[in-house]
Amino acid sequence: NKEIIVLGIETSCDETAASVVKNGTEILSNVVASQIESHKRFGGVVPELASRHHVEQMTIVIEEALNQAEVSLKEIDAIAVTEGPGLVGALLVGVNAAKALAFSSNKPLVGVHHIAGHIYANRLITDFTFPLLSLVVSGGHTELIYMEEDGAFQVIGETLDDAAGEAYDKVARTLNLPYPGGPQIDKLAQVGKPVIDLPRAWLEEGSYDFSFSGLKSAVINTLHNAEQRGEKISPEDLAASFQESVIDVLTEKTVRAAREFGVRQVLLAGGVAANQGLRASLEQAFSDLHQIELVIPPLYLCTDNAAMIAAAGTVLYKAGKRGKLDMNAHPGLDL
Ligand code: KG4
Ligand code: ZN
Repeated sequence: NKEIIVLGIETSCDETAASVVKNGTEILSNVVASQIESHKRFGGVVPELASRHHVEQMTIVIEEALNQAEVSLKEIDAIAVTEGPGLVGALLVGVNAAKALAFSSNKPLVGVHHIAGHIYANRLITDFTFPLLSLVVSGGHTELIYMEEDGAFQVIGETLDDAAGEAYDKVARTLNLPYPGGPQIDKLAQVGKPVIDLPRAWLEEGSYDFSFSGLKSAVINTLHNAEQRGEKISPEDLAASFQESVIDVLTEKTVRAAREFGVRQVLLAGGVAANQGLRASLEQAFSDLHQIELVIPPLYLCTDNAAMIAAAGTVLYKAGKRGKLDMNAHPGLDL
């Protein structure tokens, strides 16, 4: 029973990250260089800028991750890297760094799907109990994923338009809040009251899909109409009302799917999993469903990081999956 040490690399969006994880569960180091400050003045992620920052930071971040873990490249069993989905130029920096390292050190390379990474972030805090359901809510994704075993992902519901995080970021922008807007709205929502009537997209009966673009438009219209009438709307109340709309739908569909599929565990994943309102709502909803364990990762494992890529990569490595040195970045990769 040899230890397995995996180096994870993640550059799909605006964090340059590297991490060393032991046996797929124990974090030895988790280094994240955030580019948020550079993108802030443009109100969102600028792909060209992201690629350039990744190029500048990649080597430093990998060295730092190995140093902090007190592990040499020689002691690494495999190099896991996000191969998609994400920004193609950003992904390429991580993929090329991983390929160069794998080639020069003669170590196996493992390509990881970014969403599988978000789900396996939970493996760093607990064991998985199958069958399980994962609610993945990030800047690019909103999905309910059913799993019967490691690596078997069945998407049972997904957004038909905007991702939850995308809706947060767009609403934040109309309220003139800085990027990324999710945490800003979350903060405002905690002091506001959900008194403004906004729609909830339940979609057809029994559907596990989501839609957030109508809600986003309703928020913009509410602001616009108030402005025309010369009225002032409380940003706190608007944030609280928007957040309640998002959370109501996410919570209801997650609970319904968990019961219908008879899962034993529910995992929260992705950047929006950092949302205080969502965390509280799910905790409340699952508090009297004793047969289902709800797992909510700590904040540093919700947003993009490379420990989650190393964790998912370890499972793939153990299953014998190997990437070749002609690995490419796949911006629209399917799970
Ligand atoms: O997973 P992530 O770091 O990157 C992607 O894979 O997309 O998620 C980033 C998203 C952004 O849209 C950000 O606004 C949102 O997660 N986010 C939040 C919170 N923290 C981050 N949304 C709502 N409440 C939060 N506290
Ligand atoms: Zn992500």
